[in-house]
Amino acid sequence: MRVIQSLQAMQRQALKWRAERRTIGFVPTMGYLHEGHLSLVRRARRAVGPNGVVVVSIYVNPTQFGPQEDLARYPRDLPRDLQLCRGAGVDVVFTPSDEAMYPGRATGDYSTYVVEEQLSRGMEGASRPTHFRGVTTVVAKLFLLVQPHVAVFGEKDYQQAAIIRRMTRDLNFPLRIVVAPTCREADGLAMSSRNKYLTPEQRQQAVCLYRALCHAREIVRQAPHPVDAHQLRIKLRQEIEARPEARVDYIEFFDPDTLRPQARVMPGHRMALAVWVGTTRLIDNAAL
Ligand code: PAF
Repeated sequence: MRVIQSLQAMQRQALKWRAERRTIGFVPTMGYLHEGHLSLVRRARRAVGPNGVVVVSIYVNPTQFGPQEDLARYPRDLPRDLQLCRGAGVDVVFTPSDEAMYPGRATGDYSTYVVEEQLSRGMEGASRPTHFRGVTTVVAKLFLLVQPHVAVFGEKDYQQAAIIRRMTRDLNFPLRIVVAPTCREADGLAMSSRNKYLTPEQRQQAVCLYRALCHAREIVRQAPHPVDAHQLRIKLRQEIEARPEARVDYIEFFDPDTLRPQARVMPGHRMALAVWVGTTRLIDNAAL
């Protein structure tokens, strides 16, 4: 396994692979890898076949964090990440620096961003107004550097995956986006690098996101008519906030393709939620 830091070296390697007609699979990450990331690597490997190559990027992208968010304390452990990538059969780990990715940004001299203007308005976009501009910008840059034929994203970040799909279509990136299922702990908590922030008590309470998704699905599937979103939201909020450290940021019911909020919820719609557990903000989503 090779570790590449330089942008030029990454792009040169990618173009060489393309010239050799090798299929490039790509898994962008912010590191602190867990089983969820490794499942994306396995999915990428499956997509590219035996003659293909898999690239994982590890880059904590500063532009997707708001000024009050957890950029400085975001968990990092590169040696462990490299070991996990080696074990998973990754061909190249790409670890660019901030200076290389955003030249001049420290002195206010970086000025080009990629913005998706529809799907990024609600949910995460409403709570974190500059988040998706950072995500689409870094992912577009990574696509240009890694030149993948297929890129794999996790369904846990459903809105992110939808926005990246849209960006890929709108900007004509010649690649296929694959969205892989969410990996969960035994009690249902979605795997996330941010779970590391939770104290043991908070970790127990954090299962409330998954429980809310399951309960909503049960209600919607059993109801003889579409369910009123406002009433359902109130009920789920009460259940979640019965946990001492859990506070709902948002609960949304939406169309899985357009992400449009739905006032009357039916099977086939999707639910997403963001919940603060102590000082940790967790997200999750599922089909209803
Ligand atoms: O999902 C993530 O880990 C990040 O948002 C991504 C896609 C790697 C961009 O920084």
